[in-house]
Amino acid sequence: MKNILEAPYLVEMVRTTTNMYAHTWDERNGGNISLMLDEAQVAEYLDVNAVLRTIPTGFTAPELDGKYFLVTGTGKYFKNVQYAPEVNLGIVRLKDQGQQADLLWGFADGGKFTSEFPAHMMSHVARLKVDPQNRVVMHCHPANLLAMTYVHSLDEREFTRTLWQMCTECIVVFPEGVNVLPWMLCGTNEIGEATAKKMETARLVVWSQHGIYGAGKDLDETFGLIETAEKAAEIYMKIAHLPRLNTITDEQLHLMEQRFGVKGREGYLD
Ligand code: 13P
Ligand code: ZN
Repeated sequence: MKNILEAPYLVEMVRTTTNMYAHTWDERNGGNISLMLDEAQVAEYLDVNAVLRTIPTGFTAPELDGKYFLVTGTGKYFKNVQYAPEVNLGIVRLKDQGQQADLLWGFADGGKFTSEFPAHMMSHVARLKVDPQNRVVMHCHPANLLAMTYVHSLDEREFTRTLWQMCTECIVVFPEGVNVLPWMLCGTNEIGEATAKKMETARLVVWSQHGIYGAGKDLDETFGLIETAEKAAEIYMKIAHLPRLNTITDEQLHLMEQRFGVKGREGYLD
């Protein structure tokens, strides 16, 4: 059996958590990631019949039975993942209508998956229906997106349009826009269900006064999505208090659509 610490998906997960910490998106235990794996990817490194323990999930998601996830642990610091992957990460397989998770590797100090597991798992279900290639759900607390939710309208069209206007390539990276949830209690099935509903129409979902969720086919793509939205929010926070003399017009955004073969969310451009 090969060494799991050398599995490309594990190496990439360690690099991603480290990089997110370096971007200041994940203070303390802030943020969490789940990456769906194929059984073959896991079986190369682990005996998939050797269950270490079984952890209740607290929700029902029958679509996920038999699915494997590499996921960050609750209360774990992204800055520490690189030094102790086996303590800070775990590999689980869901069963019993998603109500239980068999732990196959990790959470070595007796820990468990992130408290946002409901939002992650429900978002995977939602995104897989839209895009069968989806593998990643990522949550973090980038300062500028968070700041923006204090001073900008939370209307999804308005929020999206502002982000698109802040960097020319935003509309190419997230043409479907950004969905926004009002402040809700985190770590609950309710915020999980609300996030998954928003994931049906966009890969980015802002949690007001908390952070953001991203989804994508791999860690790089998902990181890039959040990175682009956060960059746009940063520009907004630099200019929001200043008179705006210039902007990117809707006409120019339409030119971007044509040049890059994308279509902005229906009704979002005039
Ligand atoms: P966990 O430590 O449980 O992953 O929670 C962090 C977080 O960001 C909650 O929203
Ligand atoms: Zn959070």
